[in-house]
Amino acid sequence: MTSSGLLLDIPAPTALAGPSDIFTRRESNVRSYCRSFPAVFATSRGATMWDEDGRAYIDFFAGAGTVNYGHNEPRMVQAVVEYLTGGGIVHSLDMHTVAKRAFLEEFERTVLEPRGMAHRVQCPGPTGTNAVEAALKLARKVTGRRTVIAFSNGYHGMTLGALAVTANPQARAGAGVPLPHVRVAPYEGNHGMATDEALEALSQQLRLAEQEDGGAAAIILECIQGEGGVNAASPVWLRGVAERARAHGALLIVDDIQAGCGRSGTFFSFEPAGIEPDIILLSKAIGGVGMPMALVLHRPEHDCWQPGEHNGTFRGFNLAFVAATAALRHFWRDDTLARSVATNGAIVREALLDMVQAHPGCALSVRGRGLMQGLRCEDPALAARIGRAAWDRGLVIERSGREDEVVKLMPPLVISDDELRRGLAILAEAVHAAIH
Ligand SMILES: Cc1ncc(COP(=O)(O)O)c(C=O)c1O
Repeated sequence: MTSSGLLLDIPAPTALAGPSDIFTRRESNVRSYCRSFPAVFATSRGATMWDEDGRAYIDFFAGAGTVNYGHNEPRMVQAVVEYLTGGGIVHSLDMHTVAKRAFLEEFERTVLEPRGMAHRVQCPGPTGTNAVEAALKLARKVTGRRTVIAFSNGYHGMTLGALAVTANPQARAGAGVPLPHVRVAPYEGNHGMATDEALEALSQQLRLAEQEDGGAAAIILECIQGEGGVNAASPVWLRGVAERARAHGALLIVDDIQAGCGRSGTFFSFEPAGIEPDIILLSKAIGGVGMPMALVLHRPEHDCWQPGEHNGTFRGFNLAFVAATAALRHFWRDDTLARSVATNGAIVREALLDMVQAHPGCALSVRGRGLMQGLRCEDPALAARIGRAAWDRGLVIERSGREDEVVKLMPPLVISDDELRRGLAILAEAVHAAIH
């Protein structure tokens, strides 16, 4: 497999065949990303995916922040293959396994201890939304309170508890039942809200929760809102949120499911703000090569779970532990990856600012940090055209925001300089084509 010969010489994408193909004929209407990226993918390596006809695509989506270490990272693949061929146990509920022990030891050594974190590690079901459910249950159990404060534009998943703290009206409507015991505060910058104003509005919601429902159990927060439009909160606002959580006896939950595992430039997205969340949620990239996995990290003094109180069949998928251990070992024992995210983040920033400058009057702006950045278009229709034009040119890129008005750049963190620059060149070309 090679990533050479990409782009420019690639044939036009082949749309799926229509009603006769198995996906259209049999797969539920609920399918979504395949509508934006109508190809049948077959193989992948690093930051490149190939469809079944051999057409190459540069991936600026990375499974919404799942393949941070690149597709099929060879050392992780090798570790998984060796584990399987060696007869390693794949499924074990939450029984002890050598794979889980190796992961916990590596996570403690590489992530928790260097940051002075005493947090316990809970393995919920392997999706992000399951980690959110567990966190909400735990915060309510610890505090004996019901109300949770969530933020405008926040996204936390699709199961009912997670949906209750998710802002998207269309997603919420899918619940079909009320989604109670949640108060929404404005995220910094939403509707032009300044840092102080947004903090005052949060204080007000916390006071209302006290008056009406005995106080808030938790505040749930993304330090960079992914689905909400790549809104990166300032350290000042994040510290203000943490202070208010403490002052009101609410646990602070940081949902790092999309922004974590190095995406923002540090392992956890909250590190530059210097805050110490009570509960931290990881999923997506923690599983290394895209293996389903989720973690809830919580303070030992909050570990009041009864055994099996948040149970589930797939809590601890050993192949994910193997890949995750390899990822931590190869990418987080030193700061090489973090430094390369900073360098590549600056390249992305510069390229996006160039696009803004090249099209004055189009109301484009840049947002985000690390390798989680976005090009916001005042006109959502323009963002849609850019996404399509990029796809036509062999770039997989997604949109987010309330009206999908932000073109979101999330390449694998290990993307090569060549792929990054070619991806950015395609995007610049797509912006130009979409405008003219
Ligand atoms: C911040 C955040 N939290 C939770 C979730 C839900 O994760 P999952 O789709 O694995 O349930 C997502 C998914 O995009 C997310 O971005």
